[in-house]
Amino acid sequence: MRVTVLGGSGFVGRHLVATLAVAGHGPIRVLSRSPERVFGDARRSLAVAFEAVEALSSIGKLSRDDVVAARDRADRGEAFLRESVEVIEGDARDWGAVREAVSGVDAVVHAVGIIRETEGRSYGDTNVGTTQSLIDAMKDVGTSRLIYMGILGASDDPEMPYGRSRWQAESAVTESGLDWTVVKPSLVLGVSDAVSRRTVKLLRTGPIALLPFPDGGRTKLQPMYVSDLAAALTLCVTEPERAGQTYEIGGPEHIALVDIARAFAAELGIKRVYSLPMPRFVLQFGAALMGRVLKDPPITAAELSQLREDNVTALDSVEQAFGFAPRRFFDYVSYVRNVVP
Ligand SMILES: NC(=O)c1ccc[n+]([C@@H]2O[C@H](COP(=O)([O-])OP(=O)(O)OC[C@H]3O[C@@H](n4cnc5c(N)ncnc54)[C@H](OP(=O)(O)O)[C@@H]3O)[C@@H](O)[C@H]2O)c1
Repeated sequence: MRVTVLGGSGFVGRHLVATLAVAGHGPIRVLSRSPERVFGDARRSLAVAFEAVEALSSIGKLSRDDVVAARDRADRGEAFLRESVEVIEGDARDWGAVREAVSGVDAVVHAVGIIRETEGRSYGDTNVGTTQSLIDAMKDVGTSRLIYMGILGASDDPEMPYGRSRWQAESAVTESGLDWTVVKPSLVLGVSDAVSRRTVKLLRTGPIALLPFPDGGRTKLQPMYVSDLAAALTLCVTEPERAGQTYEIGGPEHIALVDIARAFAAELGIKRVYSLPMPRFVLQFGAALMGRVLKDPPITAAELSQLREDNVTALDSVEQAFGFAPRRFFDYVSYVRNVVP
């Protein structure tokens, strides 16, 4: 089948592209402003893709022969990925580029999104605007199948600007009249995700690691490994009967933010880790200040506002929706040793 992935150079998108290719669902088209990032760390993306293939084979979606073929493809490395992926260089805010990217394909995955606003890119133009222009472009060229990467915790709350932009985008998708599927995970982890990178950076800042989390970091998340998300998205792409479904998903545990950071520290051999419980308003102020002076602050005010409530759903959400058992956090957390802060 022919698939377009918007955001195929990002953390989720890169692993999905590799998984689709390794599972034999190419050719894949990607719209990206940074084409070379699509093939960055190809060996690792292909290894993760093969783990996703194994999850799909565990539920009978791929045969033993398919798995052998997938292994051969993954072993060919970056050259295989380059053969399987056509990259259109362009901005998802450019309607013409999006129109070109989505014409003549069977399905489109929208994995573009920003959690931080920077000069020249806002929640409005990126999270909401790219979704609306994608919908318009798909209608214009007659492509109807859309898989939208949403977030668990999107809501119409004006005090959560990021979550609100994601709610607006998700609403545009579900009201679009297209054959949509929405996938809304909690935290997704893997070697190149932004949360792991910033947490490792925080842990390695000095001789003592201080964790200045709101309310002591007790907010619970439901992390899932990126190979499991890639497997779930692959099922959405290949099974059109999933149209009209919204999947709120997460891994098989609810874990407090501070315990995720402590598990990272244990993996990295960092022993002196202290939680620094801070009142939310102090952190909110500090985050706003850091946002002005630091290029890559550990957390922003908008991210903090997302951590006001637990970000969790049913513990068996992946099994219920997709039929396979996602990996347990403590079985894959060693990946963090390979994170480059
Ligand atoms: N990671 C998680 O824990 C997690 C959890 C739940 C949901 N999600 C959702 O999954 C999606 C992808 O997240 P991610 O973690 O992969 O983020 P990411 O690594 O930051 O990737 C974001 C992608 O969006 C692209 N993008 C942003 N603005 C663009 C524009 N104007 N034109 C073209 N491409 C643009 C980036 O491409 P460039 O290379 O061109 O910048 C990149 O490919 C997002 O919607 C996110 O909210 C992620």
